Parts: sequence; C-alpha cells; structure tokens
Amino acid sequence: METKRTLVIGASGQVGTELTAALRNQYGVDAIIASDIHPDEKLQKQGPFELLNVLDKPRLEAIIDQYQIDTIYHLAALLSATGEKNPPLAWDLNCNGLLNVLNVMRDKGLKQLFWPSTIAVFGPHTPREETPQFCVMDPNTMYGLTKLVGERLCEYYFEKYGVDVRSIRYPGLIGWKSAPGGGTTDYAVHIFYAALQTGEYTCFLSEDTRLPMMHMEDAIRATIDLMHADASRLTIRSSYNISGCSFTPRELSNIIKESLPDFVIKYEPDYRQAIADSWPQSIDDNIAQNDWDWKPKYNTAKLTEDMLIHIREMLAEKA
Ligand code: SER
Repeated sequence: METKRTLVIGASGQVGTELTAALRNQYGVDAIIASDIHPDEKLQKQGPFELLNVLDKPRLEAIIDQYQIDTIYHLAALLSATGEKNPPLAWDLNCNGLLNVLNVMRDKGLKQLFWPSTIAVFGPHTPREETPQFCVMDPNTMYGLTKLVGERLCEYYFEKYGVDVRSIRYPGLIGWKSAPGGGTTDYAVHIFYAALQTGEYTCFLSEDTRLPMMHMEDAIRATIDLMHADASRLTIRSSYNISGCSFTPRELSNIIKESLPDFVIKYEPDYRQAIADSWPQSIDDNIAQNDWDWKPKYNTAKLTEDMLIHIREMLAEKA
C-alpha cells in the first residue's frame, strides 16, 4: 500500500511548531513533512523539512508529488499587526497562498485540508459578547478581511469541487513552546516572560480590553479532533467558532500577581488597541460543541498556572 503523508505549510510559526510536533507524535516523524519560507534548524534536525513559499505553486506541487502528500495543514499567513504594516503582502500571502493550496487540493484530488481562520473576521458591527457563528462580519483589518475571503473560498471549494476543507476561527493563542508573531493578542504570551524575567510589563492594550483567548494545547487538540471528525457531522465548511477563555490584561495580571505579588503592569496602548476594539470579547461555539464535541480544558486560571510553571522551568534550564 502507498504511504500517504501530511504537509504542514508554515511549520516554523507559533501554531506550526506545536502542531508539527503533535502530528509527528501521533503519526511518526517521517509521515509529517514540515515546510516554511524560512530555514529552521530545529525542525530540520527533527525530520523531513522543505523550504517553501506557498506563493510558488510549482514548488508546492513538486513537494506534494515528491512525498505523496494527501493532507495539508496550511498555516502560513501574516497576522493582524504585521498585516497592517504591509497590507499588499497580507493580501497576497493570505488570499493567493490559500488559493494555490485549494487549487492543488482540487486538481490533485488530495484528501483533506486544514486552514485556520480567526476572530479577526468579525468587525465593529458584530455583536461583541458571545459572538454567534452567523452574524454581521465587517472586518476592518487587512488580516481579518483576507481571512473572511479565505472562509468564503473554503466553503466554495467544498461545495463546488468537494475539497474536504476544515477550519477553526482561532482566538488569541497562548503557549510556552513557541513565540507568537505579529498578532494583537501577543501581549498575553509576552506578559508571562516579562513577569518571570523582569517583574514588570508594559502592555500595548488598555487594561479593560477583553478578548477571546485559548491555551495552545486546546487549539492543537481542537485542530486534530476536527480533522478526525466524521465528515457527515460537519455542518460548517467556512470556519467554526471555538471558545476557550476570555480575559482582560488587568484580569490576567491579577491572576499572575497571585503567584508573583511584586509583578507590575503598565499600560501604553498603541495602534493595536483599535484592532482589539473591533473584535469580539467572547465567542459562542455551540455548533462546534454539537458537530465534533469540542470542549476546552483550560480556563484563565489554569492557563496562567501552566504558563508560569513551564516558562519558569525553561528559563531555569537556560540560566
Ligand atoms: N492572534 C491573532 C492576532 O492577534 C488573532 O487571530 O492577529
């Protein structure tokens, strides 16, 4: 029997690093081909790795043929903050990159695609609390706009060409194994390093900015569970709302202070404040619960405890 393999595009990023490791644990190192636009020494040492710019379709096709890929996790994207710094690149990478992958999926008859969407697909006229799956969506960042286009493309390719594409609207993702890059929710990772290393943090969002967040372990589990879910149960082929927890910088810093009473937080909101203000504060994920039994394990307190334990360990190892 032919061995079919999985390709992770954007494997060096915040989600890619952890997802590649989780998939390799489950399916074996050689079954998971990591790829990224940047070389990554650690990933290259661990197992198969290919340099890939997803905008280079012939190269994408060559890798798929070489490794007999049948499943793709396409994670490469510019996020909200970096997207505002370079809107044309955000458009090109986020929309044309996805289009390349969808066309290859269709033309080569590949089995399954995972592609992440985001809470950034919502906008200022979206209901902000318990944001429903279906509602007004008027994103005003280039990132949000490209991801909304992407959601519509995914559903279109499923309906019209039968591409088995599955997607989740990730909230802010918080983990200790990999660094975030270019997002508005990144403060919620940086804050833990700052609290443990210097005891103080200057937050680029205001103290009462509530945003939906999720522990990375929950996000990786959600992703793999959705890919395993019985296709006949799935009613959403654009992208599923999922909820983890929801907090403000002040609430998070207060929980951190329970372990580190001397921790000091200051607030100096910058251009990312306007982005955060246009996003939901919490998410209704009833459909994900019904369709594929989604349930988070981490609330804010558990997430904080886990981050502090592991980052403390990591810093001690490095010292
Ligand atoms: N974490 C992302 C960002 O802040 C949201 O999807 O851009």
